[in-house]
Amino acid sequence: MIADSLSQKQNERQKNCHIGGGSFFGPHFSMNDKPPNIRPATDQAVAEAATLIGAGALVAFPTETVYGLGADATSDMAVAAVFAAKGRPDFNPLIVHFAETQAASRVVVFDQRARALARAFWPGALTLVVPRRPGNRISLLASSGLDTLAVRVPDHPVGRALLEAAGRPIAAPSANRSGTVSPTTAGHVAASLGGRVALILDGGPCRVGIESTVVDLTGGEPVVLRPGGITTEAIEAEIGALATPVIRAGPARSPGIIGRHYAPQTPLRLDARRPRHGEALLAFGSDAPTETAGEVLNLSTAGDVEEAAANLFSMMRALDTARATAIAVMAVPETGLGRAINDRLRRAATQLD
Ligand code: TXA
Ligand code: MG
Repeated sequence: MIADSLSQKQNERQKNCHIGGGSFFGPHFSMNDKPPNIRPATDQAVAEAATLIGAGALVAFPTETVYGLGADATSDMAVAAVFAAKGRPDFNPLIVHFAETQAASRVVVFDQRARALARAFWPGALTLVVPRRPGNRISLLASSGLDTLAVRVPDHPVGRALLEAAGRPIAAPSANRSGTVSPTTAGHVAASLGGRVALILDGGPCRVGIESTVVDLTGGEPVVLRPGGITTEAIEAEIGALATPVIRAGPARSPGIIGRHYAPQTPLRLDARRPRHGEALLAFGSDAPTETAGEVLNLSTAGDVEEAAANLFSMMRALDTARATAIAVMAVPETGLGRAINDRLRRAATQLD
């Protein structure tokens, strides 16, 4: 049963639920009220940061490009907490960071071009978008449900020490609230995210100061999706000419994330109260119908939008294999991560991308 295969993950999630959410900071104040916790990046602080990452909490850390807002890349709940802290209205896929190339090659597939670029520029300001290996441990939410993953080995002693101590890949967007500029000092992170992050490791100002160059190697021709710290000329010297990105038009147009969305094969029917004959149900909340013939998965029986975000892509994928005529989706409130969930569901329903 689909539900069984997901249940182990869910149990883990329920156990860890309190850590990624507000209650991690205790019952007396919300994350936002808490003063920022900035620490010089000593060995001891890095070790504590690694423990926090392992427990599902968020840690801001320096890389050579900009500061990253890091979370355990193998935990859907920890990754959901990143989106909540950033306050993004959508789930733009995140870069997953590794201590070394070999660790990355265990979860993604490197072709000849990827190997050449990794050899030339890692550790460094280059991110490669490559196919995920089947059965890899990385959260589907980290890549917005896609079969591809953006991976990078950063070149900063603190970032690398944290990755090594955490012993797991770290998903990290730039450590700023959505719509603000990327932070290049620990002070910038504190000003933007405050107490939304458990710990900010201060490793001084970032050397490069702009984000990594993102190169997509999943199509025939390599494409620069975002210019950054490594020049296109330097990349072309390694692997030849780069294509320019094709921007597809349409109402769902959204700069920077075009054509990079996972959509299920099965049609979605939004704002459903109960499934019709032949439909599977993607439920939300405690009053979801239970007496149904088809498959049912509940994004969050507790009605918690952060838990729902953590479950969204794995459940959409699971129900996509249920051979249903459609996936009926119950309404999710437009609060917090609910906005990003609804944005994602609407895109998947209209199949505009
Ligand atoms: O320098 C950097 O890249 C910093 C540091 C912390 O490593 N990180 C950063 O992450 O800038 P973020 O989340 O702000 O930007 C990630 C970029 C976005 O443009 C996103 O659309 C793209 O990478 N991206 C991530 N995963 C992708 C995927 N699977 N397919 C296509 N694009 C992807
Ligand atoms: Mg950013």
